[in-house]
Amino acid sequence: MTNLPVDIRARFHGLRRLIGNTPLLAVDYTFRGRPRRLFAKSENLNMTGSVKDRMALHLMKCAYERGTIRPDALIIEATSGNTGISFSAVGRALGHPVAIFMPDWMSVERVNLIRSFGASIHPVTREEGGFLGSISKAEELAERTPGAFLPRQFANEDNCEAHETMTGPEIHYQLESHGLKPDAFVAGVGTGGTVMGVGRYLRAEFPHITVHPLEPSNSPTLRTGCRLGHHRIQGVSDEFIPPIVHLDELDEIVDVDDGDAILMAQKLAIEVGLGVGISSGANFLGAVALQDRLGDDAVVVTLFPDSNKKYLSTDLMHDEPARAEHLTPHIDLHGFTAFNRVCAVCDQSEEWLRSMRIPERSGSPLPQA
Ligand SMILES: Cc1ncc(COP(=O)(O)O)c(C=O)c1O
Repeated sequence: MTNLPVDIRARFHGLRRLIGNTPLLAVDYTFRGRPRRLFAKSENLNMTGSVKDRMALHLMKCAYERGTIRPDALIIEATSGNTGISFSAVGRALGHPVAIFMPDWMSVERVNLIRSFGASIHPVTREEGGFLGSISKAEELAERTPGAFLPRQFANEDNCEAHETMTGPEIHYQLESHGLKPDAFVAGVGTGGTVMGVGRYLRAEFPHITVHPLEPSNSPTLRTGCRLGHHRIQGVSDEFIPPIVHLDELDEIVDVDDGDAILMAQKLAIEVGLGVGISSGANFLGAVALQDRLGDDAVVVTLFPDSNKKYLSTDLMHDEPARAEHLTPHIDLHGFTAFNRVCAVCDQSEEWLRSMRIPERSGSPLPQA
């Protein structure tokens, strides 16, 4: 960072204060009448409301530090939504224009949010290749655009590093401040950056831990290597196993039905006021299933990747029929406490801030997109 102009460092510093170091929620519940507690990072509290802000910020920081991005570069990314929102906001905060390629069946809230940051959005139909088509179209535009920056979230190890250096240590120190150690971690796989990065950090610190990728049972990409069915857990299980996912570094895959995930997300909002997205419901159920195996007192950690706000036009707002195999009807939520943010993971000390001599105003005006 120190090799960068003060102006750009100040912008990164401002973003770092709005991204990461989220509270860790301890959610108390009973499952089939047995009292238990699960832990979930409140990732909806990041700048644009999702876990993907961490990845967008870290990828940009790495690119600036390595000198692989020009200050006016067009950022081009293929995404199923949250990443597009994150790059649109983080990119603009750093002065970049942004172009997003996205399958055309993602929620209208996602599309409008990306537009609201001034990014250009390129919807890709199923006939044009859907998700894989979005990736190849992003690559084609980059070839035609001098100096374009492609984050390539599915193949970029910096994505995992964001979680290895931020999310993982946060979980460690937040649990430690309450005298706890994690026994298992589970997270739904979109790019896999979260489960790989958090997993690497926690495994190094707690060798006994198990680390589980999660996917929809009605469209199991990790188990099959391709897209087989339709599912409603936006943000996970796209159409292929991302290159940064190494299943041999992970423990067993956890499967969750998308209807059960919707019921659980609804329950978290209705019973304890946690307005989370569908993948958060899935992650919670994955953690419940693991605790069932490991014991009622096992310390199982997961994430709530985003809030319910981007799903107001989806099945999250409709009655979802409960099925015999669903776990949600057997869960009663009792409330939650929040473990505070931790100083141990703030990346910039106040001393560093002073030495940076941040300009009194926020620097020169940003170039217009
Ligand atoms: C809502 C939601 N949940 C989960 C994930 C999965 O995160 P990762 O890409 O780190 O695997 C994503 C990724 O976009 C997401 O948008």
